[in-house]
Amino acid sequence: MFLTQEEQKMLDGKYGKGTQLAMKIQVALGEVFNAERMAPVSRTHVALSNQEADLWFVEKMVDAGAKCKVSPTVNPGFNLEYFQCITTISKEDEEMIKRTRQAYKEVGATLTFDCTPYLEKNIPRFGEITAYSESSATPFINSVYGARTNRESAQSALCAAITGRTPLYGFLLDENRAGQVLVDVQANIKNDFDYQLLGYAVPKKLKFKTPVFVNLPTDPSPAALMNLGAQLNTAGNVPMYHIVGVTPEAPTVEAAFMGKDPERVITITKQDLEAVHDEITDPGGPIDFALFGCPHFNIDQVAQVARLVEGRKLKVQLWIMTSSLTKELAKRMGYLETIQQAGGDIVDDTCMDQPCWEFLYGKKGVTDSPKCAYYTKRRNMQFVIRKIEECIDAAMRGEI
Ligand code: F3S
Repeated sequence: MFLTQEEQKMLDGKYGKGTQLAMKIQVALGEVFNAERMAPVSRTHVALSNQEADLWFVEKMVDAGAKCKVSPTVNPGFNLEYFQCITTISKEDEEMIKRTRQAYKEVGATLTFDCTPYLEKNIPRFGEITAYSESSATPFINSVYGARTNRESAQSALCAAITGRTPLYGFLLDENRAGQVLVDVQANIKNDFDYQLLGYAVPKKLKFKTPVFVNLPTDPSPAALMNLGAQLNTAGNVPMYHIVGVTPEAPTVEAAFMGKDPERVITITKQDLEAVHDEITDPGGPIDFALFGCPHFNIDQVAQVARLVEGRKLKVQLWIMTSSLTKELAKRMGYLETIQQAGGDIVDDTCMDQPCWEFLYGKKGVTDSPKCAYYTKRRNMQFVIRKIEECIDAAMRGEI
């Protein structure tokens, strides 16, 4: 693999052991994927998980003196101070989140603790080469902005942040961005929730292929596109898709396929969406809570919940997870107060796949997110999955 003089110096340890270790990992990754050279990155996002392996890696980098050249935004762990007020956090979990925060601070990350940085703090331009981890982020960068990223791990994205480079392979190259399978959507996709089901249904019919969607609306909301990407990468592995008329590289079907024929054509029907919904949701009945924001809600989604609960009283607890920036905006706009008056709350810096939710283990909730339901199975949480309006009605009645 060709390295510039500067990259060779990094590999030789001229910039310290941390940078050397990151470059070593990236050269190995590049060789695995036959990358000819490295490319500079201008943006990065690290999907930290606040779990042992994640902490081990970032502390190893910090101990080796690594500092990020391209400061990454980072995923949420949990908001320790918030949860200490409402539940008991074990000493081990407290220690883990404190060390995680400290390590990412020391390595030079931008501590957004948010899983939708592409809507707020970390927005690329068309064609920009970047390194993003996080399941909804990668497809959003490639398919909505037309910027370029591979589906990075937290570790490879951190290495890119440290060296300012990434091996040039995969979705960074023109020829790998072409669509492969035509997805003819013969279901009526009419709201953001339908994109959740569509994203979960497509990988049932195709794995590891780049879909080109036709017959989808050409004015999807940011939340719809966020939902689609999150679910495509919960049920499957889809770093990029094309929606004809939406994806910058797909003004036409021909452009999306770069002039080639599709390898296959698949159809998604109303029955496919219903089948996937039946498969992923737990059955209805009494519920204990409602949980939204997987991925983190944007301000429009927070506003929607505020409108739905205004002047009413929730029968069960309700939380919305979002970024600290959106929570601040919600406070300024009165949405936070409205939601709190109804008996719910907004929590920032927090992911649902964290031990802070232990007080809900063994209980049943409602959510609009298949990803939320999927990840929490291992934590023995049950979820009935419905669109937001139905979840709120259920939370008012305490059952669904
Ligand atoms: Fe975000 Fe955690 Fe869900 S990072 S997408 S809240 S699993």
